[in-house]
Amino acid sequence: MLIRIVYLSSAVGPQTGTMTQAILEKSQAWNQANGITGVLCQGQGVFLQALEGERKTVTELYTRICADQRHNNVEILHCESILERRYKNWSMALVNLSDIDPSTKIDWPEFDPYSVTGMLVMARIDELLAEGTVINGLD
Ligand SMILES: Cc1cc2nc3c(=O)[nH]c(=O)nc-3n(C[C@H](O)[C@H](O)[C@H](O)COP(=O)(O)O)c2cc1C
Repeated sequence: MLIRIVYLSSAVGPQTGTMTQAILEKSQAWNQANGITGVLCQGQGVFLQALEGERKTVTELYTRICADQRHNNVEILHCESILERRYKNWSMALVNLSDIDPSTKIDWPEFDPYSVTGMLVMARIDELLAEGTVINGLD
């Protein structure tokens, strides 16, 4: 059974390019080998990640991610059983929230991800993907 979860967390320390690259490389390799797809949005002190895959695999991965010292305040925004993957083209796409186009940059600070529903967050992620702000994918 496939599921998708979306969670939000606060970065511990600065979100440097080196840290993001390390997370992304590890994620893409492991996720591709284990049937996980998704998107990682990072910037402005938060991580926002969607993970899709077999329920057991997603649960185990999420537990591991929660224990990661590079972030805290992890909150699940959304969890659902799915028939189809939404992010099937990406073992882990990266959307940089600090590096989006000027019009979006104005919008994002007003969009407090801790205070909105998971559905709205996913719609926002889709907007960012459609705007072509993905800076890394694997497939
Ligand atoms: C925000 C964030 C997202 C992450 N996403 C993934 C991911 O999608 N897949 C993955 O394998 N590891 C991901 N990681 C890394 C894991 O937390 C963990 O460091 C990695 O799986 C290695 O675990 P281990 O040291 O227990 O082997 C992420 C880490 C952070 C901070």
